[in-house]
Amino acid sequence: MNVLIIGSGGREHAIAWKISQSKLLNKLFIAPGNAGTAHTGKNVSLKANDFEGIRQFVLENDIGMIIVGPEAPLVAGFHDFFLADDKLKDIPVIGPVRKAALLEGSKDFAKSFMKRHNIPTASYQTFDKAQLKEAMAFLAHKKPPYVLKADGLAAGKGVLICETLEAAEKELKAMFQGKFGYAGRLVVIEEFLKGIELSVFVLTDGKDYLLLPEAKDYKRIGEGDTGLNTGGMGSISPVPFADKTFMDKVENRIIRPTIEGLKAEGIKYKGFLFFGLMKVNDDPYVIEYNVRMGDPEAESVIPRIKSDLLEMFVEVADETIKTRTVETDARYSAAVMLVSGGYPGTYEKDKTISGLENIDNSILFHAGTKTDPESGKVLTNGGRVIAVTSFGNNLREALQTSYGTAEKIEFDKVYYRKDLGEDLTG
Ligand code: AMP
Ligand code: GLY
Repeated sequence: MNVLIIGSGGREHAIAWKISQSKLLNKLFIAPGNAGTAHTGKNVSLKANDFEGIRQFVLENDIGMIIVGPEAPLVAGFHDFFLADDKLKDIPVIGPVRKAALLEGSKDFAKSFMKRHNIPTASYQTFDKAQLKEAMAFLAHKKPPYVLKADGLAAGKGVLICETLEAAEKELKAMFQGKFGYAGRLVVIEEFLKGIELSVFVLTDGKDYLLLPEAKDYKRIGEGDTGLNTGGMGSISPVPFADKTFMDKVENRIIRPTIEGLKAEGIKYKGFLFFGLMKVNDDPYVIEYNVRMGDPEAESVIPRIKSDLLEMFVEVADETIKTRTVETDARYSAAVMLVSGGYPGTYEKDKTISGLENIDNSILFHAGTKTDPESGKVLTNGGRVIAVTSFGNNLREALQTSYGTAEKIEFDKVYYRKDLGEDLTG
């Protein structure tokens, strides 16, 4: 079968790398892809929001499966567009329809969904601009820190945690005045949860789900979890504290009620569902839903999946995943993200990357890279540039191998965190 992957990051390279090993694959295309995905299939210069262009390409190239990597096209109705078209409606899309994608696209929708289905999450209230007074009064009755969330997609920047009431009031006003544009027309104010975070993933066909390996993401730019939030500076899998007792709670209290809740609301969800969780004492709470794989979690999770991922996608399309189990690699994996100096603030692009050849004990997943059409050299093309993933018999070993490889890769102002996993290995 011919497969099209939509997206251009490390997550999409990891999915492409895995699919390229499938016995069911004929041709693989990635739109738009990056310098790394070009080694797993053919890059196609189409943007994720160019639905018409993608329609044309799918029909001309006999595509039999489409995997949508990022959330934005899903929230914009990518899957619905396919279902509404006579020629496209039978081509499977991995990624939910718009209504379900609102679990990520609207924090207020996600919170009310959790409330309806008794899924543990921080208590909250949602306000619009006309309710500024009520929102201020609500804040005044809370204790710090204050958690403010823009309702819509805000490129990962829409969550603010304020230490003082004054700061929270100022930010709330700024949000209603358009700090995050349309995304901030509604603001969710919620209780602060103190604990340790982890990311849990399932692949669902709308009826049943397959639990995938869990991961921990390192979001802050600085060592010791300091400084600005980023898209993610690395990830590890499995998560040592996610033992059987804890994961049973996650499945019973969170995953099953979510899948059942979607069914009860008549929403057919096909694709990855990502639970951003906080472990508070020994109990899991949902911080957020994402309607896709995580990035950089995919770079440590996907290599640990031994089963044929394309075969799993076919079963999602056919609604037969109940009949299978996922085979996983018991070893640890660690993905270290190399980023451009200055990220997540301003940074430069087009730096030549060297040291990419002769890497044999790690896998390189490209994120912000491109190939210079004239010289054929690989250049930086974004903030997050390359994830270096390695296996190990324990976390320390996996991390050491990734750090050993990271040292060999160079570009002007390269930066990476050197303390990943230290919170878990002691
Ligand atoms: P999000 O963009 O929803 O992933 O939120 C960004 C980060 O804010 C999360 O990864 C958490 O670290 C933090 N966060 C969000 N909601 C809460 C909460 N209710 N309590 C504590 N931390 C939170
Ligand atoms: N790593 C978090 C995310 O993909 O949103």
